[in-house]
Amino acid sequence: MYVVTGATGHTGSAVAKHLLRKGEKVRMIGRGAERLRALAAEGGEPSDADLTDAAALSKAFRGAKAVYLMLPPNLAGHDGRAFHKRVADAIAAAVERAGVTYAVHLSSIGADKPDKTGTVEGSHALEQQLNRIDGLNLLHLRAGYFMENTLAQIASIHTTGKAMGPFRPDLELPMIATRDVGEAAADALLSLSFDKQQTRELQGQRDISMSEVAQIIGRAIGTLDLPYLQATDETVRAALLKLGISANMAALLLEMSAAWNTGHIRAFEPRSAENTTPTSYETFVAEEFLPRFQARSVA
Ligand SMILES: NC(=O)c1ccc[n+]([C@@H]2O[C@H](COP(=O)([O-])OP(=O)(O)OC[C@H]3O[C@@H](n4cnc5c(N)ncnc54)[C@H](OP(=O)(O)O)[C@@H]3O)[C@@H](O)[C@H]2O)c1
Repeated sequence: MYVVTGATGHTGSAVAKHLLRKGEKVRMIGRGAERLRALAAEGGEPSDADLTDAAALSKAFRGAKAVYLMLPPNLAGHDGRAFHKRVADAIAAAVERAGVTYAVHLSSIGADKPDKTGTVEGSHALEQQLNRIDGLNLLHLRAGYFMENTLAQIASIHTTGKAMGPFRPDLELPMIATRDVGEAAADALLSLSFDKQQTRELQGQRDISMSEVAQIIGRAIGTLDLPYLQATDETVRAALLKLGISANMAALLLEMSAAWNTGHIRAFEPRSAENTTPTSYETFVAEEFLPRFQARSVA
């Protein structure tokens, strides 16, 4: 039996679905009766546990062949670092208490750095905390920048006619679809071909700049030469606040973006078959971006 945290989220749901398709038993951690019912409908065993609750988590982890661990974002929270510490403390305590022997941890490119990486600092801290647990075989999957983050461009294009964000237009980002993260994590859970503490980067199908992102979106929505504008921190901050993101989280996201821009956050592994995943940005736009863009146009 496998245990999947964040089972209603992008990567966790992909991990769980992949394992269930392979005929594996999956305990899916979620919150609230309604969401748990939805998880049960997918064929998994729902388990109600908050990721800050070490006792509930250790009960959920007990008997697992392996667990999928993720640190959730807390976009509306007022102290992102403190929230990540609470979750990391609870996860690490639960892994230890439940005697978990195999775990795949969703980490991030940039988690090699202890600080000045904004939201990625939590992944560094959780990596370190899990590394200290005796008898735990660990794979830290350091994923690149999620393609799903670019769904925020829908609002920008609708309101300003431009794609915009904090990244340099020419910065080549290893951009990955979360479905590919989920599939890579599920494959690692099925094979368990890692031991002690290992890291592996997931760099997506290819590196891609925000200028290219705008061109691909532009072609899909019928606006040739859709411009991408690198916005000032203040403009990005105002847009994030408008989306309901707290000032604290906005600051952490800006710090993370600045770290990519300067190369403080960057991939280390040379691109290879092992760290390259199948979904192209063009496929992501056709299957995920465009339907949402069109739905918003109709609305
Ligand atoms: N964004 C990026 O570019 C990027 C890149 C590399 C790595 N990452 C990592 O990926 C993570 C996000 O992964 P994702 O996209 O799969 O997540 P997601 O879609 O944002 O989903 C978060 C999941 O965590 C659950 N959750 C949130 N708070 C919880 C709590 N207190 N107790 C129990 N469950 C809780 C949510 O459940 P509910 O349905 O109950 O809310 C949901 O299932 C980031 O936090 C970061 O660590 C992100």
